[in-house]
Amino acid sequence: MTGVSIELPPPPPHYREPLCLAAAGKQTGSRVVVASRFNLAPLAGYTNLPFRLSVRELGGVGLCTTDLVNARAILEQIPKTLELLAHHPAERPLFVQIFGSRADEMAAAARWLVDRQIADGIDINMGCPVRKVVKTGGGSSLLCDTTGATIELVRRVVEAVPVPVTVKMRLGWDETQLTAPYFAREFEQVGVAAVTIHGRTREQGFSGRVNHAGIRRVVEAVERIPVFGNGDVRTIADAARMIEETGCHGIAIGRGALANPWIFRQLNNWVQTGDPGPRASYAERIAFMRLHLRRLVEWKGSEKYGCIHFRKIATWYTKALRLPKKVQQKLVMLANLAEFEEIIAPFAHGPVPDGWTEYDTQQAHIAVPAGPIAHW
Ligand SMILES: Cc1cc2nc3c(=O)[nH]c(=O)nc-3n(C[C@H](O)[C@H](O)[C@H](O)COP(=O)(O)O)c2cc1C
Repeated sequence: MTGVSIELPPPPPHYREPLCLAAAGKQTGSRVVVASRFNLAPLAGYTNLPFRLSVRELGGVGLCTTDLVNARAILEQIPKTLELLAHHPAERPLFVQIFGSRADEMAAAARWLVDRQIADGIDINMGCPVRKVVKTGGGSSLLCDTTGATIELVRRVVEAVPVPVTVKMRLGWDETQLTAPYFAREFEQVGVAAVTIHGRTREQGFSGRVNHAGIRRVVEAVERIPVFGNGDVRTIADAARMIEETGCHGIAIGRGALANPWIFRQLNNWVQTGDPGPRASYAERIAFMRLHLRRLVEWKGSEKYGCIHFRKIATWYTKALRLPKKVQQKLVMLANLAEFEEIIAPFAHGPVPDGWTEYDTQQAHIAVPAGPIAHW
């Protein structure tokens, strides 16, 4: 089945051109050319090497970013943290997202990542609302400090590395402190190469709708660096609305990529030709799930731990694929690859479930932190 281009708005012509992210200090620094304007947004626990590599192979992704990684834990070489830094030459360009509140640690961790050629660029997390990150003074709490400490931290990271540094942030702490436009302008002045803005405040968590007017204010605040809009993009129509209403130069997609890993390819086709092209078939989706699981096993270095990691994503695969409840119950207890093949065989080779449509995948529920923010 091909995409129905007549129902879609025409793509913005400038989206056909690649973006260039430049390191501060043009003489010595590197430039990263991003072929597509659609980036994979980091989703801790999901956007690890197995998923990133599998999505990139489908085509159409601009930048990929690792899950957020604690800068101090990098310096202390904590094994669990180093596991998050696993990468592959086929997934370039790769940005590593770091969080922390101390400029010296952030700068040293960035340097370490670039010296070892793990990162083509560094992304600073300024959006994470989760208590364990915020209480360290990192994540979205950095958006509260307008005295200069936050800008100084970013400047120190920019000066520490010869690669582009980007910042991912929310609109502000709450409705009364929408500091993102101010920070975006200041970050540009200290050499940040691009900003990604999730159109919600920290107070909002993941509730409510993404605020396009708020993203637009960030776009208007900067002079020349690209701003990537982020939040709630699951379809081409959502992306078109985001571009139209915010003026953003590119888009970062998180949950929409879990629900539909082909979304980057479809968006890029739409930009290039006006037609998103073929949707993924049911069989391709099953094959993607299988590949994802196999790569989780390789990444973890053990069938047992790869399967344990798979359990938490099994639920959204089963929802997206309309697999019966009893299949979901088996997959969330998955122990090994042979068992997976046995469970999935009737669906991999059998008919597509009655009534299954692409719509199911867009609706697949992806868990977000719930309840009072203070308890996340
Ligand atoms: C489970 C989960 C984990 C996330 N982890 C990160 C993270 O590590 N770093 C980050 O900057 N944002 C993180 N985010 C926020 C997303 O990158 C993104 O800003 C947000 O989900 C809105 O975009 P979306 O609607 O396209 O998912 C996370 C979101 C979710 C739901």
